[in-house]
Amino acid sequence: MKVLVIGGGGREHALVWKLCQSPRVDKVYCAPGNAGISEIAECIDIRGDDFDALLDFVKYNWIDLTVVGPEAPLAGGIVDVFIKEGRSICGPDRKGAQFEGSKKFAKDFMQKYGIPTAEYKIFSSFQQAEEYVRLKGAPIVIKADGLAAGKGVIVAATVDEAIDGLKSIMKDRVFGNAGDKVVVEECLKGEEASFMVLTDGETVVELATSQDHKQIFDGDRGPNTGGMGAYSPAPIIDESMRKTVMQTIIDPMMKGLQRERIKFRGVMYVGLMICHGKPYVLEYNCRFGDPEAQPILMRLESDLFELLKATAEGRLKDINVSWKDESSICVVLASKGYPGPYEKGEAIQGLDVFDNDKDVVVFHAGTSLNNGEIVTSGGRVLGVTALGRDIRTAKDNAYRAIEKIHFNGMQYRKDIADKAINKQ
Ligand SMILES: Nc1ncnc2c1ncn2[C@@H]1O[C@H](COP(=O)(O)OP(=O)(O)O)[C@@H](O)[C@H]1O
Ligand SMILES: [Mg+2]
Repeated sequence: MKVLVIGGGGREHALVWKLCQSPRVDKVYCAPGNAGISEIAECIDIRGDDFDALLDFVKYNWIDLTVVGPEAPLAGGIVDVFIKEGRSICGPDRKGAQFEGSKKFAKDFMQKYGIPTAEYKIFSSFQQAEEYVRLKGAPIVIKADGLAAGKGVIVAATVDEAIDGLKSIMKDRVFGNAGDKVVVEECLKGEEASFMVLTDGETVVELATSQDHKQIFDGDRGPNTGGMGAYSPAPIIDESMRKTVMQTIIDPMMKGLQRERIKFRGVMYVGLMICHGKPYVLEYNCRFGDPEAQPILMRLESDLFELLKATAEGRLKDINVSWKDESSICVVLASKGYPGPYEKGEAIQGLDVFDNDKDVVVFHAGTSLNNGEIVTSGGRVLGVTALGRDIRTAKDNAYRAIEKIHFNGMQYRKDIADKAINKQ
C-alpha cells in the first residue's frame, strides 16, 4: 500500500515514522515534509492548500490512503474534494472540521448537547463585547472565532487586558476574518490534559492520554507557543476520570455528531481543563496534537496504517488497539526568539547518534537540507522523544539525548513531565 501524509512538522514525522513500520505499507510520501521525514519517506513539493495538485499526485501515484496532519487543509475542505473523487482519506470533512475552525460552532455544539464547558457569549460587535467584559470582570478569556495558528486566545487577568484583546481581534483585525466573531468566556482554573479519540462517526477508539506544555518557559511562564513538549500517559486522567470523560464528553459528542449528520472520520482532540475533579472542554481540534502525537505514537503498539485506513473506511468497530506500558516524553528544541521572530539556517549537530537507540527518536519539525547539511528552518526545530519504563526514566532518556544535540540559539524547557513526576 502507498500512503501520502500531508504536513511537514513533528507530528507528521511521527505519523510517517509509525506508518513506515506497518508491514502493509510499501511506500510513504509526504507533502511537503522536512529534512527528517526525507530520510524515511519521499518528500514532494506540494503545499497543503493546493488540493488540485495533491489530488493529481494521489491519482497518478495510486495512493491508497491520504492522512492529513494539520488543521488548515481540513478546514478548507480537502476531505470533501478527495471523497468526491473516490479517494480514501483520513480526516473530517469541512463540516466536521468546524469543531476546530470555528470556536463559536464548537461552543454552540457543546451547549446544545450538554457537554461541560466554560460559560460563554458570542459577539460580532466590539461595543457589545466590551460591555459584556465590563459586566463580567476579570479574569476572563477572549477567543477569536476562526483559525489563528494557536495565537487567537487571550487569558486576560484584567479588564483592560481583555479589552485590548478585543480591540486587536475585532478592530485591528490581527487575525483577519478569523476575528469576525469572538467568544468571551469564563476563566476556568485547573490542570489541562489532552484526550484524543479516533472515530469513524460510529465507533470511538480512545488514544493514549497526554499533556502538552504550551508556554515557552519552565513553570508554565511566558507567552504561549505551539507546544514545547508533551508526555503520555497523563496521570491526571486516571481510570475514574477516563470514565467521566467518556460519559460526560465523548458519548454526548458522538450523539451530537450523529444528530447533526456530521461525518467525522478522523482524530477528535478534546482539550480538557480539569477543575475540582470535573472535566470541562476548552476546545476541540480535529487532528492529532503536535507535540502530543510524538509521545503517543511512540507508545502505540498497533499498526497505525490499519487504524487510519479503518477510520477512513468506517471499519473501526473491527479494530483493537494496544499500547506499550512504558511512558513517553517529547521535548521540543526551539530556535532562538521563538515564539516571536526567530533565526533560521543554523546547522544542527549530533543527530546521527540515535540511529541504534530504540528508546529515543528525534522527530524533526522546522528543519531543511542545505547542501546536504541539516539546518533549522522553523520555530520548533526538533522533538526529542523517548520511552522509559516510567515517566521519570523516559524524561532522563530524553534529556540525556538532548545533551548530544546542538544548534546555535537552541532553547528548550527543562521541566517537561514534572507535573506527572510530582504526582508519583
Ligand atoms: N476558559 C478558559 N479558562 C482558562 N484558560 C483557558 C480557557 N480557554 C482557553 N484557555 C487557555 O488558553 C489556551 C488556548 O486556548 P484554546 O481554546 O485551546 O485555543 P487554541 O489552542 O486554538 O489557541 C488553553 O490551552 C488554555 O491554557
Ligand atoms: Mg489549544
